[in-house]
Amino acid sequence: MSGFSDAWLSARAAWDSPARSRSVEDALVGWARKRAPDGQRLRVVDLGAGNGNNQRHLAPLLPAPVDWMLVDSDQALLASAERTADLKPGDSLVAEVTDLAHADLAKLVVAADLVTASALFDLASQDWLDNLLDALADEGTALLAVLTYDGRIEAGTDQETLAEVRDLVNRHQRTDKGFGPALGPDASAALSAGLAARAYDVRDGESDWIVAPGDPGTRELVGGWVEAASEMAPERVRDFEAWAETLYAQPEAKIRVGHRDHFATPPLS
Ligand SMILES: C[S@@+](CC[C@H](N)C(=O)[O-])C[C@H]1O[C@@H](n2cnc3c(N)ncnc32)[C@H](O)[C@@H]1O
Repeated sequence: MSGFSDAWLSARAAWDSPARSRSVEDALVGWARKRAPDGQRLRVVDLGAGNGNNQRHLAPLLPAPVDWMLVDSDQALLASAERTADLKPGDSLVAEVTDLAHADLAKLVVAADLVTASALFDLASQDWLDNLLDALADEGTALLAVLTYDGRIEAGTDQETLAEVRDLVNRHQRTDKGFGPALGPDASAALSAGLAARAYDVRDGESDWIVAPGDPGTRELVGGWVEAASEMAPERVRDFEAWAETLYAQPEAKIRVGHRDHFATPPLS
């Protein structure tokens, strides 16, 4: 068990697909057509694949038969991903239960055309990200990183408490999530800097979640922020709970959560 439930990942998927940057996706599709113009196989590794949201979203966009490798530390989520994978004739799929924090990243990405990860890099540390980017650069592998949280949370209620909650959530995001001190809201900027340092050609774009008023996932999303903020400032728990209740009671309260997507190809690819 990873702490990410199948139900929560499925609720997030409804926000993920419309949020993804179309411009980044166009760059991916253009690259894939050039990489496999005549039905050659593409090898794609999805890190932190969870229950397969990213695989199911990407499968219709990739033209060639694809050899998928889905990697996650949570066996139950991977089993769900295998059951619900979107596979075309000729595709193959391997699910690999691995703790990425201690994995041999060079071995994992060997011979991969594309490594992808959705909502993973904010959990990772700077050192881990550097190791992964070194492995990709050595192998000449492209990277698609989507829905990387960038620290922005907007909601139409009590802006003073919102700012406090956001600040505490972002501090919580920087605590260790299994990889050492997490990049949290700095992950998107760290990706941009790390890819530029390795001379990757990068297309990036905003992929904010827009959570509509009354969305059934709101309570789990906002409840998660209240829990994280209260862990950092336990004396404020009642105020944060009251703030969340006010937010739920506002029928017009739209929520925006900031993310960025990156698609990056190595030099001379
Ligand atoms: C926010 S979820 C995203 C899941 C999926 N990519 C998606 O977009 O729905 C993060 C995923 O990373 C996985 N994860 C977290 N730490 C991990 C680790 N050390 N090794 C492998 N997987 C890990 C979790 O099990 C979870 O499935």
